[in-house]
Parts: sequence; structure tokens; C-alpha cells
Amino acid sequence: MALQASANVGAIKAASGLPTWLRGIGARQVRLACGLVMFSYIFLHFFNHALGIISFDTMEAWLQWHLWWWRIPVVNGTLYTAAAIHLSLGLWALYQRRHFRYAAAEIAQLVLGFSIPLLLASHFGVERVAGWIYGRVPVSYAPPLFGYWVTRPYMVAVQFTLLTVAWTHACIGLYFWLRLKSFFKWAWPMLFAVAILLPPLAMIGTYHGAQEVIQLVKQPQWRALHINPIPPPQRAVIDQITLFYFPIGYAAAIVLVFAARGVRTVRERRRGMFTVSYPHRQVRVPKGLSILEASLRFRIPHASVCGGRARCSTCRVRIVSDRSKLPRPSGREAFVLARVGVGADPSIRLACQLRPQSDIAVIPVLQPNIDAGFVRSKQRMHIGEERYVVSMFVDMRGSTKLSERRLPFDVVFLINQFVEAISQAITEAGGQPNQFVGDGVFALFGLDVDRATACRQALRTAALIASNVAYLNHRFATEVRDPIQYGIGIHAGEAIVGDIGFRGRTVFTALGDSVNVAARLQDMTKNLNCLLIMSEEVCKIAGLSADVLTRREIQIRGHDEPMTVRVVEDPTVLASLTEPEPAEPLSEDGEDNRSCS
Ligand code: FES
Repeated sequence: MALQASANVGAIKAASGLPTWLRGIGARQVRLACGLVMFSYIFLHFFNHALGIISFDTMEAWLQWHLWWWRIPVVNGTLYTAAAIHLSLGLWALYQRRHFRYAAAEIAQLVLGFSIPLLLASHFGVERVAGWIYGRVPVSYAPPLFGYWVTRPYMVAVQFTLLTVAWTHACIGLYFWLRLKSFFKWAWPMLFAVAILLPPLAMIGTYHGAQEVIQLVKQPQWRALHINPIPPPQRAVIDQITLFYFPIGYAAAIVLVFAARGVRTVRERRRGMFTVSYPHRQVRVPKGLSILEASLRFRIPHASVCGGRARCSTCRVRIVSDRSKLPRPSGREAFVLARVGVGADPSIRLACQLRPQSDIAVIPVLQPNIDAGFVRSKQRMHIGEERYVVSMFVDMRGSTKLSERRLPFDVVFLINQFVEAISQAITEAGGQPNQFVGDGVFALFGLDVDRATACRQALRTAALIASNVAYLNHRFATEVRDPIQYGIGIHAGEAIVGDIGFRGRTVFTALGDSVNVAARLQDMTKNLNCLLIMSEEVCKIAGLSADVLTRREIQIRGHDEPMTVRVVEDPTVLASLTEPEPAEPLSEDGEDNRSCS
């Protein structure tokens, strides 16, 4: 238990001095925040370009607001700081990433992102570096539009490429972030429309603006006032900085990152390997790799909706080996695990964040094909737990006979009426219809209430079923010669509950001996010629004063000892038996020692 406390909970406690919203902040969240600052800049900038569709004057008018806002010292400082951090963290992410099995969108984002500084260099040199060195402060669209469209036309292609590249990079980043948000499902068509339309509108706007400028420069007075080209010696200095030294420095930084990756790979190989055991396979990987990276390296199917960014939690695994040597969860990992309700379980870790140093055995918790829709809907995966539940099986008698000389439509209709009558009774009493198999229904009670309440809910359900089916028989008296008959089995006990299934077809259900016994009790109603058999356990926990119920000892297949049960020929009597006496408070563990008198 001491070890358990040292895992997820420990990490959360370690960060508990911080406000909740700060606990989950890691490098990726900082990179995202910086990206958002830059996105707001380019959005407004491109919007400004698009206003050229209206007129050059409109562009100019908006530009004054744009310049006013972005030149406020704190805003200006935030923008440049965000750009520097975003680029640095991009290089850091390139270093950290252990594999290059990217999705196409991720590759596009990576390549486009790293090409932005090179494409931006010339424009940035004229608009910013010239200001820092020679005090040239840009105040109008006229010089760049004239310069690009008249003096250096190839720059139009460079600028349009830059616009497309920067916008696409930003939109892919936003998509990876927003697709996990619940509003994305309804908002994406609008967001997509903006993403698609803004670049062409910005290009058309600059074209229109440039055409107006080309006409305006024919007026010498206007030209003298607005067009003030950089003197060639100054231009040469700026070009040298932005088109020679900067690309060399930038390329060196990227080469350095790859060199550092190489050094790390060599060092990790020297440190040795560790084995990751999956349910059906074992792989050996160098120390330093995360569990998710091990899965990707060996193409082992593993859910990872956010691509290892510690956002989605879909990569989570259950550790089924010794956990004592595992590194503690980072603040971000603990935050994400707590957000999906598994923070208190130290055996659950994020595969994309966990980098073990010794052999480990894991079971991926979620299906590998889970998508962003699963995360958006905030579905909770029930990964399996043992708990006390009341199980009820209800089965229609003689459905085969019912189908004789009837159209398939009529048979399905009648069975649906029966299933509906049963399900209504279950939900009305507070239980959950869990599975429908043919003409049978399996229901669970006690998933969110105490044992006594669950048992009483099950008995009340039986009474309601009896009345609902009686009403059904009354309704179909003319169509169905023999009244619909049924059998009910109820038992309570510990069961394993969790999501069972394959790929998209999973169902939350219960398994275990107590469930099997309920099924067998239902089956035995045929032999004992009654409508309901419940175990003594249910009767006892429900606190029934039930002298009227026949007590029997029966042998259950697979059980050595005979089992005491109560046999009910008419479940409607349970309505009066369950109502008067409310359940007494239970002890903390939910035990109740009242006897079924
Ligand atoms: S892959 Fe999304 S949290 Fe690990």
C-alpha cells in the first residue's frame, strides 16, 4: 500500500500546492499557448490582407488598429516571447520524439512548421530588422505591396507560400487540440470553412490592394509620401542577416538536434534494454523509450488519439508487474489520469509518458481503434472492478411455440413488447437493463446504490414485471391464445463489472459466479413450476418479512453445497412485501445480518 501511495496520488499531492489549472501544464501546453498567441496574430494579419478586397483604404484603416494593438509593449513582448518559445519547444519536441511513425497530418505540421522561419526571413528582415537597426517603422501596406508586386515579383510567390504554410501549420495544430473538445462535433463545419476561406481571401485582398497601389504610385506626390524604399547598402546588410546568417544558424540548430538524438541513442544502447510484456507479445526496447513508443516501434496496436501529447489518456495501460521501480508520474500525467477518474489507481499509467528502466508487463486498457469521438464524448471506459451487484435474468417462456404459424414481423413485435414491459419495470424500480439476448433480459441492480436498496429494487422489479406482463396478456388476449409466460432468477453477490467486447462493440456488463447462479435460478423456474426463484441472500439483504415465500434447498450445477432459495409463484405479492419496511442503515462494508424470517 505504501508503494501505491507513492504513484499517481503522490504526484498529484506533490503538486497540490498549485491551483488545479496549473497542475496539468507541461511543455506541450506551453507550446500550445504560445501557438495560440501567434495564431491570433496571423489571423488578424491575414484578415487585414483580406480587407483589400474592399479597398486599399480599408486595409490601411484596419492596419492602424492592428499596429496600435501589436505595438503595445506588453503585447509586443508577449508575441515575440511566444514565437521564441514555440520555436524552441518545437526543436525540443523534435529531440524528444523517439520515432517517426507520424500520421500524414503530423508530418505536414512538422515540415511546414520548420519551414516557416526560412520563408519568413526576408519579410521579417524588411519589416522588423530594418526597424531595429535603421529605425524604419512600417506604417503602411504601400511599401511592401509595391515592393513585392513591382520591384521583386518573385516575393509574391514567397509571401503566398508563407501565408499558406503558416496558416496550414496553425490549423493542423488547432485541429489536434480542438478535435478532443466536446463542441468540436458541431463547430467543425464553421471552423473548417474559416480555415479554407481565409488564405484565398487574404491573397485576393493583397492582389486588389497591390493593383490600387500600382495606380496610386503613378501620382508623384502620393509616391513620394508613401513609397520609401530601403537604400541599397541597408538592404544588403539586412539581406545578409536574414538570408545568409539566419538560415545558417537555423540549419545548425536543426542539425544539432539530430546530433543530440544520435548521442542519446548511443547512450541509451549502452544503458541496456528492457522488456515490455503485452498480453500476447514481448518486445525488447532501449531504456528511455516510453511504452507507447515501444508499441509503435513494433507495430503493436495501441490507442493514442492525441499522438502521445498527454492530452487524451487513451494510451493508458494497466501495469501487471512490479511497480516499485517505475518512475513517478509527472504532474501532467497525474493530472490527465485524475481527469479520467483513475488517478487513485497506481496500476494505471499513461503509456506515452511512462519510460520504464526495467522489465514491465502491461495491458492496454482501451481498444486500439478508439478515436477522438470517444474522448470528446467523455465516455468512461469501465476497465473492470469487483463489486457487489444484484443480477436478474428474465426469460420468456415458449417463444418457439409463439413463432409457429406467425409472420416474423408479428413474432418480433410480440417479443419487443415483452422486452419493453420487462425493461420498463427494471428502470422504474431503479435497475439497469444490461443485455438483451433473444427474448431474455439481463438486469443489474446496485451499481449506484447500497446492497439492501439494490435487493429491494430487484424484488420490486419482479412485482412490476408480473403486472406489466399481465397487462400485456390482457392487451393481446385475442391475438395470443396462451398467455405469455416467463421465468425470473435473482441472486446477489460479488461480480466483476467492466466493458467487455471487441473493437467498437463493447458492453458494460457483469461476470462471475453470482451472475451465473442468477441465470441458473431463472432456468430452474421451469422445473419448479414457478415464476420466480431468488436466493436466500437476496431475501435476507432486502430485509423481507417473508414467511409467505416457500423456502427450498436446491442443487446448483457447479456448486458442492445445496443452496437455499425462495420460490415465488406470484411475484405481485412482492410489491406488498417490499414496501412497508425500509432498509435499516448498513454497516460501513455494506453487510446486513438481518434474517429472512
Ligand atoms: S496518447 Fe494521448 S495521452 Fe497518451
